Amino acid sequence: MAEALRVGIAGLGTVGASVARVLRDKGAELTRQCGREIVVTAVSARDRTRDRGVDLSGAQWFDDPIELAEKADIDVFIELIGGDEGAARACVRAALDAGRHVVTANKALLAKHGVALAEIAEKKGVLLNYEAAVAGGIPVIKTMREAMAGNSVTRVFGILNGTCNYILTRMEAEGLTFEACLADAQRLGYAEADPTFDIEGNDTAHKLAILTSLAFGSKIAADDIYLEGISNITQADIRAAAELGYRIKLLGVAQRTESGIEQRVHPTMVPTASVIAQVHGVTNAVAIETDILGELLLSGPGAGGNATASAVVGDIADIAKSRPGFQHGPVFGRPAKELKPYKKAQMRSHAGGYFIRLTVHDRIGVFAAIAKRMADNDISLESIVQHANGTEGGTAQKTVILVTHETTEAAVRKAVDGVTKDGHLTDKPQVIRIERAG
Ligand SMILES: NC(=O)c1ccc[n+]([C@@H]2O[C@H](COP(=O)([O-])OP(=O)(O)OC[C@H]3O[C@@H](n4cnc5c(N)ncnc54)[C@H](OP(=O)(O)O)[C@@H]3O)[C@@H](O)[C@H]2O)c1
Repeated sequence: MAEALRVGIAGLGTVGASVARVLRDKGAELTRQCGREIVVTAVSARDRTRDRGVDLSGAQWFDDPIELAEKADIDVFIELIGGDEGAARACVRAALDAGRHVVTANKALLAKHGVALAEIAEKKGVLLNYEAAVAGGIPVIKTMREAMAGNSVTRVFGILNGTCNYILTRMEAEGLTFEACLADAQRLGYAEADPTFDIEGNDTAHKLAILTSLAFGSKIAADDIYLEGISNITQADIRAAAELGYRIKLLGVAQRTESGIEQRVHPTMVPTASVIAQVHGVTNAVAIETDILGELLLSGPGAGGNATASAVVGDIADIAKSRPGFQHGPVFGRPAKELKPYKKAQMRSHAGGYFIRLTVHDRIGVFAAIAKRMADNDISLESIVQHANGTEGGTAQKTVILVTHETTEAAVRKAVDGVTKDGHLTDKPQVIRIERAG
C-alpha cells in the first residue's frame, strides 16, 4: 500500500472538528477507497485546551497555523479558520509556497485572492481544492470542473445562503415578518449574531464569484456583483408573489449576455412550479444551464459541520488518490494565467420580467398615470392586480401590482422614477426581478 497521506488541519471549529471526526470514524473506508491511509499529523487553533470532541493527541499542536503550513510533516494543509485576510490568507499562501496541497472551505478568501492563490498552486504543481467553499456539501465545484467537459455554460444560478432561504421559507409558510424569522434563525444558530453578511447578500456574492469564474473562464470579480439583500421583503410581496404564481428566493445569478457577464444577487421571483422554488429552509441549490446538457439542478445541505466536512474530506480523498502527473486539472477549470479579464455587463441592460408593487392614493387618474409611465418606457404588462387597502392617515390607498413582459432594468427604473415624481405613491415602490427557471 502507498504511504499514508499526512494532513494538517488549521482551525478546529464547526468544520475543522467535524473533518477530524469524519477522518477518524471513516478511516478504514477511506483507506479502502483511496488505497492509502489518511492521517491527521498536525493541528492548530487558538485555544489548545478546548475539547474538540475528537482525540487529537496523536497530532502535533501548533499555536501558529503559518508554522504548521511551513514546517509540519504534512502532505496536505487544510485551512478551516475563515476570513479573507489575516491568518487564513497567510497560512494558505505559506503552504502553497512550501509546495503543499491545500484544501479550504473559505469562500471569502477565494473570492478575494483565489486567482493569485491558484497561480501559485499551479506554478508549484500542487492542488488547491475548495469544494466546501460553495454550497457546503453540494459537489458543485467537482461537477462544473470535471463532469461538464465540453459544455459551455450560459447561466448559473442558485440559492447559496441557507439563512436567507430559511427566512423566506418561513415568511411564506407561516405569514411571519422578516424580523421574527431572522430572530428565530439566530436562536437556532442558522444566522450569526451580526447577520448582515448573510441577509444583505455578501455571502451569496462570494460563492457566486467563484461559480462565475468556473462557468465562464473569467477572473474572479467579487467586487463587480450587483447586490440587494432580503431585508426589504415584506409579507405584501410574499402574498402578491403567491397570488401571481411565484415564490421569492434570494438568488445569485451569473449569466452570459451580449454585452458581458451579469453577476447579480437579489431577491428574485421564480415560478412556484419550478424545481428551484421547491428548495425550502436552509437547503441550498445550484442550477447550471449549458448548451449540451440543458439545465442541471443540484440541491442539498449548504452548511453545517458534517455536510461541509463531507466536501472537505472528498477534496482530501482526491489528493490521496491523485498521482504526480495525473491530477484533475487547474484550480478554476483552466490555467489561472489563461483566465480572461471579467467583462462586466451593466445592470441597467439586464433584460427580464419585473414585479412592481406600488402603494398609491386611491383616486381617479392614478392608474392611468402609472399605465402612461409604463407605456412611455415601452414596458408591456403581463398582468395587473389592484387591491383597495382601506384608509390610512385620512387618505384612501390601494396597492397596484404590475408584472411586466421582458423589458430592461433601465426602462423599469425610469418608469418607476416617473411614477414616484407624479406624486401618487404613499410608500416606497417595490421592484423584484423575475428569473426564468425550469
Ligand atoms: N460552518 C459552516 O457551516 C461552513 C460551511 C461552509 C464553509 N464554511 C467555512 O469554513 C471555514 C471555517 O468555518 P467554521 O464555521 O468552522 O468556523 P469556526 O467554528 O469559527 O472555527 C474557526 C476555527 O479557527 C480557529 N482560529 C481562528 N483564528 C485562528 C488563528 N489565528 N490561528 C489558528 N486558529 C485560528 C478557531 O480556534 P478556536 O476554536 O481555538 O477559537 C476555530 O477553531 C470558514 O472559512 C467558513 O466560511 C463554514
